[in-house]
Amino acid sequence: MDAMALKFSSSKFLNPAFPTTSTHSSALRRLKFSSWSLPVSAAAVREADPALGSLSLGHITRPDFPILHQEVNGSKLVYLDNAATSQKPNSVLKALQSYYESYNSNVHRGIHYLSAKATDAYELARKKVAGFVNASAPSEIVFTRNATEAINLVAYTWGLSNLSPGDEIVLTVAEHHSAIVPWQIVAQKTGAVLKFVGLDGDEVPDVQELRDTISAKTKLVVVHHISNTLASSLPIGDIVDWAHKVGARVLVDACQSVPHMIVDVQSLDADFLVASSHKMCGPTGIGFLYGKSDILSAMPPFLGGGEMISDVFLDHSTYQEPPSRFEAGTPAIGEAIGLGAAIDYLSEIGMRKIHEYETELATYLYESLSSVPNIRIYGPKPSKNVNRAPLCSFNVENIHPTDIATFLDQQHGVAIRSGHHCTQPLHRHLGVSASARASLHFYNTKEDIDNFIQALNDTVNFFNSFK
Ligand SMILES: Cc1ncc(COP(=O)(O)O)c(C=O)c1O
Repeated sequence: MDAMALKFSSSKFLNPAFPTTSTHSSALRRLKFSSWSLPVSAAAVREADPALGSLSLGHITRPDFPILHQEVNGSKLVYLDNAATSQKPNSVLKALQSYYESYNSNVHRGIHYLSAKATDAYELARKKVAGFVNASAPSEIVFTRNATEAINLVAYTWGLSNLSPGDEIVLTVAEHHSAIVPWQIVAQKTGAVLKFVGLDGDEVPDVQELRDTISAKTKLVVVHHISNTLASSLPIGDIVDWAHKVGARVLVDACQSVPHMIVDVQSLDADFLVASSHKMCGPTGIGFLYGKSDILSAMPPFLGGGEMISDVFLDHSTYQEPPSRFEAGTPAIGEAIGLGAAIDYLSEIGMRKIHEYETELATYLYESLSSVPNIRIYGPKPSKNVNRAPLCSFNVENIHPTDIATFLDQQHGVAIRSGHHCTQPLHRHLGVSASARASLHFYNTKEDIDNFIQALNDTVNFFNSFK
């Protein structure tokens, strides 16, 4: 049944943005949290009342995110689509406004005051990214439009110049389309072969099969760190060891790990690692490629144009050293500066704290969702040894995920994702064409999850009432 075709008639439940009965509520009221259109900064909250130390990270930080404090379709917004994109704190919005308001200028080109200031801020943002993932030098960070462009950069430069017929690229069936399609294109051009690893009995990519698939023919391993659909994680350090033993390179898709946990490229020893700013509380339009210095230096350019050249003659050009070699044209300056502000914000909270809190939320989400009748949640069960990422992809028997997402949005103001989440091969492997997905960030709370579950039960009852 198509939810859009129905006139929804179910009654709305109370959907408080904050707890009304918990011990936190009086402290919250003192800080006028109940005036939810009036964001207070997290730092101000912490300073104002030490009693708030007992509040969850979600309660402390949500005032920093103005977008969360609104009504959608007559209900308070519950935003659970963070794996698709995260929301932006005030400090990031301010950094963008300040750049465009007071020092908008092109970088690396002008000698005037504004250009020097913009260049310094742009390069400082690169340093912040390098520090955030513990790169050994800022020059190992190449700014790109997003993670997808970063993977394409590696495919069209390193891939086209290093792959030959019969060479193998090892991936898992759980990769995002961004990590599959560029390699399909490059494989067609070079004669390289893609080898896909399946899932094991716990519904996570089969690590033993991955190990066995890596051979002397392997030139590249492309793996996600955290799955955007299964919520599982891969042992990147081990995979890098196995790949390096046969002389292969490893590209890590860290889109779902960098925003949620400490990622240290030196301890992982990854050759390439990519992530997108918009999932890290930063602006859209900017992402980054980390690459080891020696590998980047040996790679040919990606796009040609201004900024990436040393000298241009009529018949040929010479190129800059990385990262400039890979940043042709005017870059996304304000967006890079915004990403720097997002990194400051995340670092002020602390990635360890974010990860611990989100792990707790992840278990709460999984256990709460498990109580919904006829639900199937994909990926591993959380246990002592298995931590899930804070997201759940699921289906409810005989109800289309898009109907679920539409009803949740229109009747309850709950934003989740439905579809294949850019992992069509994985969905096919799981025997479904689509799923619904609720995904969290550190500014979510257990009350958000409670409200979502209550709304989902209402949704399921509504659709079942027509059967
Ligand atoms: C695991 C993973 N890889 C890659 C991407 C692509 O990110 P972007 O669209 O920002 O390039 C995403 C985004 O959903 C993702 O979740």
